[in-house]
Amino acid sequence: MMPSDPLFSNVRITRETPMRICFVCLGNICRSPTAEGIFQHMVYERGLQDRFFIDSAGTSAWHVGEPANSKSQQIANKHGVKLLSRARAFDARDLEEFDLILAMDKQNHEDILSLDPRGTYQHKVRMMRDFDPQPDDPSVPDPYFGGMDGFQNVFDVLQRSSARLLDLLEQNVE
Ligand code: 4NP
Repeated sequence: MMPSDPLFSNVRITRETPMRICFVCLGNICRSPTAEGIFQHMVYERGLQDRFFIDSAGTSAWHVGEPANSKSQQIANKHGVKLLSRARAFDARDLEEFDLILAMDKQNHEDILSLDPRGTYQHKVRMMRDFDPQPDDPSVPDPYFGGMDGFQNVFDVLQRSSARLLDLLEQNVE
């Protein structure tokens, strides 16, 4: 993340203009609800709940209405984080409504940008792992077809990335 990045250098996060962030993955049942839950938890811990509006969505509509995956919930609960969201599909209106849209992997990033053929909103769309202090892969790996280890890894990656992201954004809180 560059300090000169206009998205972060010019932004003022106030009670009147909270920052609106949407985390996005494929199904909106594993990675993005975990990111939403962790980030929301950190926002509360830092007393910043009136400065952020947090949501998540999926590039597919396959799991619309479902709660987070039970393995994601189990790992999150172990760390004191509740995953309360229900899956919904990301759509073009979200590009307008959110200030920052965080893709979990390269395919999500591409699918989000395909809803914005003119590139009007591309400056808002980032990879979550751009904020990971240990980015061994540009994507948050999809844990859906694997075991508990993969879900734990997703949690760890998202915890590191969320903490760094919130550290950066907190500098713009007024
Ligand atoms: P997510 O994981 O994108 O992190 O929610 C997945 C959930 C469902 C599927 C793939 C990934 N699926 O193939 O149904």
